Amino acid sequence: MTKIFAYAIRKDEEPFLNEWKDANKDVEVAYTDKLLTPETAALAKGSDGVVVYQQLDYTAETLQALANVGVTKMSLRNVGIDNIDLAKAKELGFEITNVPVYSPDAIAEHAAIQAARVLRQDGLMDAKMANRDLRWAPTIGREVRDQVVGVVGTGHIGQVFMRIMEGFGAKVIAFDIFRNPELEKKGYYVDTLDDLYKQADVISLHVPDVPANVHMINDDSIKEMKDGVVIVNVSRGPLVDTDAVIRGLNSGKVFGFVMDTYEGEVGVFNEDWKGKKFPDDRLANLIDRPNVLVTPHTAFYTTHAVRNMVVKAFDNNYALVEGKPAQTPVKLDM
Ligand code: COI
Repeated sequence: MTKIFAYAIRKDEEPFLNEWKDANKDVEVAYTDKLLTPETAALAKGSDGVVVYQQLDYTAETLQALANVGVTKMSLRNVGIDNIDLAKAKELGFEITNVPVYSPDAIAEHAAIQAARVLRQDGLMDAKMANRDLRWAPTIGREVRDQVVGVVGTGHIGQVFMRIMEGFGAKVIAFDIFRNPELEKKGYYVDTLDDLYKQADVISLHVPDVPANVHMINDDSIKEMKDGVVIVNVSRGPLVDTDAVIRGLNSGKVFGFVMDTYEGEVGVFNEDWKGKKFPDDRLANLIDRPNVLVTPHTAFYTTHAVRNMVVKAFDNNYALVEGKPAQTPVKLDM
């Protein structure tokens, strides 16, 4: 019987895993809540493939440990592949799949809600409510329809974000090195990132963490932006030079910041830090600011998205182990 082993299964994923099991009774599914590490790789011994998700790196050592127990078919429940040693995976003959589209709406909606909340100064208003301060001023909002919203990256998520922002009545402009012909026809694209930085009141990032994009938001790009800009990063932490944004917030150039992803998030997000000090002071600095809305990489975290991540990853892995074409293979020559 075909056997698939899943790592790091959370309680909220179990119903969807059981749903998949019920629909695929010819497959034996076993799982653990433990992450895939060199030490836990042996748990997959005897399986035909593994289903995984973790922010921890899939190091050469981890991949080797999995290969040592005969497993080289690995299906991610998420999109990001930046934490996989792809060269090692290729050398060991791995076949890998990911789930590139599980719910663009989950992420775009979060970006839109948080951007609108920053514009309305909700962080400040919430703090006032907590202090029973019911005065209006100086917490006056900016309407979304009065903003030019600049979208960097017009893939699935960027496009949903554009639609939501237009629903609010904003003027939307976009930049992408890979232009979408439909969006191009509608005239959304500006020629350069600088053009977008110069024109946009709200800038939202929807691009991957590839070397060319690392710290695209930095002192120089912030200098190009309009005074009072709102920056939104629900994509990948390394896109933003956090220190530069803090300087922008301190000077007032940056009106607010939506931060769902953070360059130092691995091992920090999705942990309980109550009563403990963060390993990085910048995080407390940002969380304590009323004009910064920090969430711990939860833009994706909806029932709709989690169901798709689990079901699509298992479908992919089943295809791999049956020697059939998987829906969304990862190219290992990157
Ligand atoms: C991804 O799918 O790569 C994400 O960024 C969401 C992740 C935290 C599950």
